[in-house]
Amino acid sequence: MRISPHTPVHVAARYGATAKKGAKTAVRAKLRKQLQTGRAIACKVSRSTARCRAPPLIRTMPDSIRPPLVRVEPLGQSFEAPDSLTLLEAAAFANLRLPRSCRNGTCRTCLCRMTAGRVRYTIEWPGLSREEKTEGYILPCVAIAETDLVIEVPDAIELPAR
Ligand code: FES
Repeated sequence: MRISPHTPVHVAARYGATAKKGAKTAVRAKLRKQLQTGRAIACKVSRSTARCRAPPLIRTMPDSIRPPLVRVEPLGQSFEAPDSLTLLEAAAFANLRLPRSCRNGTCRTCLCRMTAGRVRYTIEWPGLSREEKTEGYILPCVAIAETDLVIEVPDAIELPAR
């Protein structure tokens, strides 16, 4: 699937084609120009390819836009973690099962150590002390990757592909 001039405005806006509300034509014109110059990227969001009469303009995703990569040690597996998903959710999409229970940052079942990278949290007060944070501990159920990460999760399991 790809972004096209027929892509809905709210979707186009996520990829940098911004305009005031109601200015669909301007957004589409800007998006068309981005597609022609290679600034727009291929994505999984648009479902409008069937109506699209624009020339095929599939682009590969530049490094600056690709989602952060998370490596799980000692398993040695990696998965992409877009900012719309917590680490726990992104791991599940990659058929990796991380320890979990409450999924809201309170029980600490998912507590693991991050040896590289940076995260932010979906909640204001994740159940971590200041010392734990400085030692690199994170709660994947409420953490979102801001950079590529390496996390140590000894109990992680790779599930068979569905
Ligand atoms: S699953 Fe409970 S804190 Fe993460």
